[in-house]
Amino acid sequence: ASKSPRHFLSISELSPTELSTLVNNATAYKHSALQPTWPQRNALSNKTIALLFSKLSTRTRVSTEGAVVAMGGHPMFLGKNDIQLGVNESLYDTSVVISSMVSGIVARVGPHADIANLAKDSSVPVINALCDTYHPMQIVADFATLTQAFGTPAEKLNGLKIAWVGDANNVLFDMCIGARKLGIEMAVATPKGYEIPAKIKDEVDAAGRGTIFETNTPEEAIKGANIVVTDTWISMGQESEKQKRLQAFAGYQVTEELAKRGGAAEDWKFMHCLPRHQEEVSDEVFYGPRSLVFPEAQNRLWSAISTIEAFVVNRGEIRPPK
Ligand code: CP
Repeated sequence: ASKSPRHFLSISELSPTELSTLVNNATAYKHSALQPTWPQRNALSNKTIALLFSKLSTRTRVSTEGAVVAMGGHPMFLGKNDIQLGVNESLYDTSVVISSMVSGIVARVGPHADIANLAKDSSVPVINALCDTYHPMQIVADFATLTQAFGTPAEKLNGLKIAWVGDANNVLFDMCIGARKLGIEMAVATPKGYEIPAKIKDEVDAAGRGTIFETNTPEEAIKGANIVVTDTWISMGQESEKQKRLQAFAGYQVTEELAKRGGAAEDWKFMHCLPRHQEEVSDEVFYGPRSLVFPEAQNRLWSAISTIEAFVVNRGEIRPPK
């Protein structure tokens, strides 16, 4: 039997060196990967990559389609109304059939178990484009954004402090795991009742060096932070909790005043993986000079190129560009 492929479902599957390499490659590929001289521009020639998206997406869809095209391949987008992903057909059948016809699968699903099941039976690499628990390509882009903003390679980001102010969600979980692996200090402020679940905390603690400080007071998390990060308070599938969540997150909007009260570093930067809603961050911060949100979004393209190259082209061998 042929060896099972290496999949990429969470940052936790990477060694610290592999994470640094994926991040540094993303930064190295910024713009160069679209040049005719890029050595990997035909790496996926005559190959199809299936993009299975059971949820809406702007950045992940555009970046992964663009990444496949940058390597000369064909991205086949299959939305939730196109195929029978977990509806009317088992994930096992879907995985075996699709993986027999393509060279890689990028999938956005609901429960983590869905992507784990897809991967288990796939004969080609499966890359997580977001599930309820993880969002690894986002974190590669976020850390690449930090390497660019602070002018340092990923393995030297460990002098920074990130403050997360908001909901404990899939982006936060992979960010905490990645921060542990790179030794970045992290502080997390969530409202009472919205903290990181114990099972994820154990996974974060097992991920390596660094510290994660948790609090229910945004100002405590922000103290000395070089980067303040937030995300939506209402993730896809939580729409019915909107009113309850808006109340619970009162006082969590990232503003200049909050950062000042909390004692953020003078030149603190702001990140948000988008889409953004106004209650999460003031316009002054979001559109102001501290904001890294648009380079962060564009880094999704370089993150997707770095990730698809590593897992599909190089079959899970994560190495610096030749
Ligand atoms: N940040 C992010 O994943 O954006 P999309 O949901 O638009 O892909």
